[in-house]
This record gives sequence, structure tokens and C-alpha cells, in this order.
Amino acid sequence: MNTDSIKLCINGRDYTLKVGRDFEITETLSTVLRERLGFTGVRVSCNQGACGACTILLNGKSALSCMMLAVEADGCDITTIEGIPADDPIIEAFAKETDPGYGTAMQCGFCTPGFVLETKSLLAENPHPTEAEIRDGLSGHVCRCGAYQGIEHAVKKVSAAVKEVK
Ligand code: FES
Ligand code: FES
Repeated sequence: MNTDSIKLCINGRDYTLKVGRDFEITETLSTVLRERLGFTGVRVSCNQGACGACTILLNGKSALSCMMLAVEADGCDITTIEGIPADDPIIEAFAKETDPGYGTAMQCGFCTPGFVLETKSLLAENPHPTEAEIRDGLSGHVCRCGAYQGIEHAVKKVSAAVKEVK
């Protein structure tokens, strides 16, 4: 582990961050992303690994950014919700979900970045998950608005619509 500086590639852009100047060695990755670099789409709620709000993609797989130090991500490729285009099929599915009986997939939107990135990770590994696999895959995420049915339905629809999500 490099303790002087770290290199991160965030949403396709390279950053070199010096310990003591740009961030402190004790800071979590979520703190550095949000408070040092301004990626406020990385939500922080529980700050203890229990809600999924701070989910990012780390080298393409979902990870809880509140549960790791920034220095542990040295050399990693990171995607936050800011790096996902607005016309991404998962974002569109969440935004458009209004089918009767399911409600919406977004209400206040606080949990949405975490759910979207988790869905991206899930569908990249398993493009056509069963209902149980969707529930299991998203089970680490809390939606305080209770939009779970809409979220599950949105994931099912995007899974049915695209062969492979990258
Ligand atoms: S803020 Fe990281 S899991 Fe809740
Ligand atoms: S939409 Fe409000 S917390 Fe999920």
C-alpha cells in the first residue's frame, strides 16, 4: 500500500491524491469521493456497511465505499453514479417505472445511485437473474421510501430488454 499518494481512475479520469495535502490516510473512500472530490452522488447514510447508499463500482464490481479506506483503492478504477450516462438503460428503467401495482422505483432518490450501481454489477455478472437472484443481489440496500416493488420491477424490465449490461 502506498502511504504517500494514491492514484484513482474515477469515471474515466485519472486522479493523483497526496496524503496530508488532498486527504488524510484515515479517510474512507466515500469521504474522499464525496467531500474531497465532490462526487456527491455517493450517498452516505449508515456509514457502517448496512444500507448500500455508498455503493460504487470498484474495478467493475459493486463495493461499499464507506467500508474501505481511500488508500485501499490505490490503482483502482472507480465508477460513481456521475459516470453513468443519463440514457443508461438501468437509469431509464428506474426513472420510468410507474406500472400499476408496483409504484415507482424512485421517490426521494436518496438510495437510487446505490441501487443503480448494484444493478449494473448484478446484470454484468448475470444478465437474466431470477426474482430471487434480484432480491438477493439488492438485499444490502435500504430504501427508506419503500420503493422495493418498483425497483425490483424496473430491474426485471431492464434485464428483459438488454442482452448484456456493461
Ligand atoms: S453508507 Fe455505506 S453502507 Fe451505508
Ligand atoms: S427512493 Fe427514497 S430512499 Fe429510496
